[in-house]
Amino acid sequence: MRLIAICLSLCLLAPSVLGNVLAGPYQSVLYWYAYRIDIMTHDAANREIAVGCVGTGPGKTCLFDEFLRYIQKTGRNTKLWTGSTNVGKDLTPDVISTAEQLATGGEAKTPSRYPNTSDPSKMFKKFKGKVGITYSELMRAVVDTIQKSRASLETLKGVDIETELKSARQALTLTHRARVADNAKYIIQGVNAYLKEQRQTWTVKTKTIPASEETPFEWEEVDTAKTIAAHKGATSDIMKAVQKYIGSWGTGTTKTDATRHMAPVYACQEGESRLNGGPKC
Ligand SMILES: *[C@@H]1O[C@H](CO)[C@@H](O)[C@H](O)[C@H]1NC(C)=O
Repeated sequence: MRLIAICLSLCLLAPSVLGNVLAGPYQSVLYWYAYRIDIMTHDAANREIAVGCVGTGPGKTCLFDEFLRYIQKTGRNTKLWTGSTNVGKDLTPDVISTAEQLATGGEAKTPSRYPNTSDPSKMFKKFKGKVGITYSELMRAVVDTIQKSRASLETLKGVDIETELKSARQALTLTHRARVADNAKYIIQGVNAYLKEQRQTWTVKTKTIPASEETPFEWEEVDTAKTIAAHKGATSDIMKAVQKYIGSWGTGTTKTDATRHMAPVYACQEGESRLNGGPKC
């Protein structure tokens, strides 16, 4: 517990109320880098990620597209991905442009568009045959594997995973931000629903967090200061409730979308802190 607290204090999380749909492609790239790091630091017998994936990469391991197809969750409504990226034999693809290709490649609503769904039991040996693995459990397993690999470098000679680790960190940071962006949307909806319930005719003010070089997407979040300034006449009870809702990111309220979407945000935040901390985090 203590260790986790120390790692969390290193967290580089932006202070703003920092999403699900948006996060998918970054998450897929993160999984790829975790897979590569696992391969680079473990013998075939000791690997944990996508161990049954036989492909045309080094030592019959999988290349990027092969890997994503292998870990994909398929079902009645989700057919196996038939598309491809231009990553090819590149083992260290660029995080942002690759995620972009996954997000926009092929044709929407057809199997040629990557579906952003992965099956934990295909991802990890230890989840084989298990159902109901949560997002948090999966994310923890991904980060555990990377951390274990990092720790093993102390005794492994001549293995360099710097490039892979850097991209894993970038992919996880973007996954986290994308999840926060998605959640920000649910918070806006949730607060406005609360206001309506309280028979208020106003809605919260929002602001746009612009895209940047590091974060190639923008999002809307509640602007607390502007909301307060615009509604000086609101009762303090209502304003307090609004602020509590926003401050708790929608948790601590009854079951809402914002509450449900918070667990993945926390899971990413924890994972990001650990990857940015030392190998023992
Ligand atoms: C996967 O997520 C991306 C980014 O949000 C989206 O553009 C893409 O359409 C999603 N794929 C499917 C099949 O929904």
